[in-house]
Formats: sequence, C-alpha cells, structure tokens
Amino acid sequence: MDKTTANSGQDREFTRDEVRDHNETDSLWVIVESKVYDITHFLGEHPGGRDILREYGGMDATNRFREVEHSADAIEMMKAYKIGRVVGEDIATQWDDGDGGDGSTQQLAEQYSITVGWLPMLIGIGVTLISYYVINYSF
Ligand code: HEM
Repeated sequence: MDKTTANSGQDREFTRDEVRDHNETDSLWVIVESKVYDITHFLGEHPGGRDILREYGGMDATNRFREVEHSADAIEMMKAYKIGRVVGEDIATQWDDGDGGDGSTQQLAEQYSITVGWLPMLIGIGVTLISYYVINYSF
C-alpha cells in the first residue's frame, strides 16, 4: 500500500453537512465512528458490493458497518480511505480503526462486550422485580 497516500490529509475536519454533499458515485464519502472516508475509488472493490456503499453515501454508516462485523483485514483496508474526522466529535473513547497503533479489533470486542454484558444483567433485575411483585401481591 502507498503509505504516503494513505496518511495524507487524515487529520482534516469536516462538518456532517460537508460530508452529506458527497453522496454521488463521482465523490462518495461515508462516516464511520466519527471518521470520514472517501470511498469513491473503493466502490468497485468492496466485497460487500457497491450498492450498500452508495446507499450510505454522504451519511453516517457506523451502525450498518458494525452490523456486518467487518474483519480485521477490512478495518485495516479502511485506513487507506480515511480523509479526516467529523469536527467537534470526540473519537478518543470510541473504536479506532487501528491507526492509533494497538488492538483495533480488541477495542471493538470490548465495546461489544460492554453492551452485551449489561443487557442480561438488566433483564435479570427486571425479572427479579416482576417476580417479587407477583409473589407478594397475587396470593
Ligand atoms: C472503506 C470502508 C470499507 C471497507 C474497507 C470494507 C471492506 C469490506 C470487506 C473486506 C468485506 C468482506 C468481509 C470482511 O472481510 O469483513 C466487506 C463486506 C461487507 N461490507 Fe464493507 N467495507 C467498508 C465499508 C462498508 C460500509 C460503509 C458498509 C455499510 C454501510 C459495508 C457493508 C458491507 C456488507 C453488507 C458486506 C457483506 C457482508 C457479507 O457478505 O456478509 N462496508 N466489506
């Protein structure tokens, strides 16, 4: 990969309005985790097809991108298309695509486990409370 191209201009900041203007195939940008990617030249190469990328052109594709659970290779590939970040959004605590250095997929996994870990606990508390009321007030 051409490192010079991959790393140039990555710290530019864009507003979400600016990104929204790039929604055509001759200039197609998406936002993933508050970072801006110019995927114009990636459309024909995307293993998931060009249609899904066109659908999200100019938009925030974070949720859809996560749903697919892209591989570590895919996340590595993204770096080449990053052109900057969304102005004013703190990405320090969010998932990083690995350009910060260590363990991008590990961070992603941690983020998932926090979400997945809290849900059963809340359901458990809910079931306990409901059982308590049923036992106390129905007999
Ligand atoms: C530069 C950004 C992107 C790169 C480098 C990328 C790369 C890839 C790669 C390598 C795959 C094959 C499976 C894997 O290795 O994970 C894939 C599949 C896929 N991607 Fe992306 N992708 C990007 C952006 C997106 C976005 C923004 C979306 C949705 C809005 C998306 C949706 C999908 C879907 C639906 C598949 C097919 C999954 C399947 O076959 O089950 N991708 N992508």
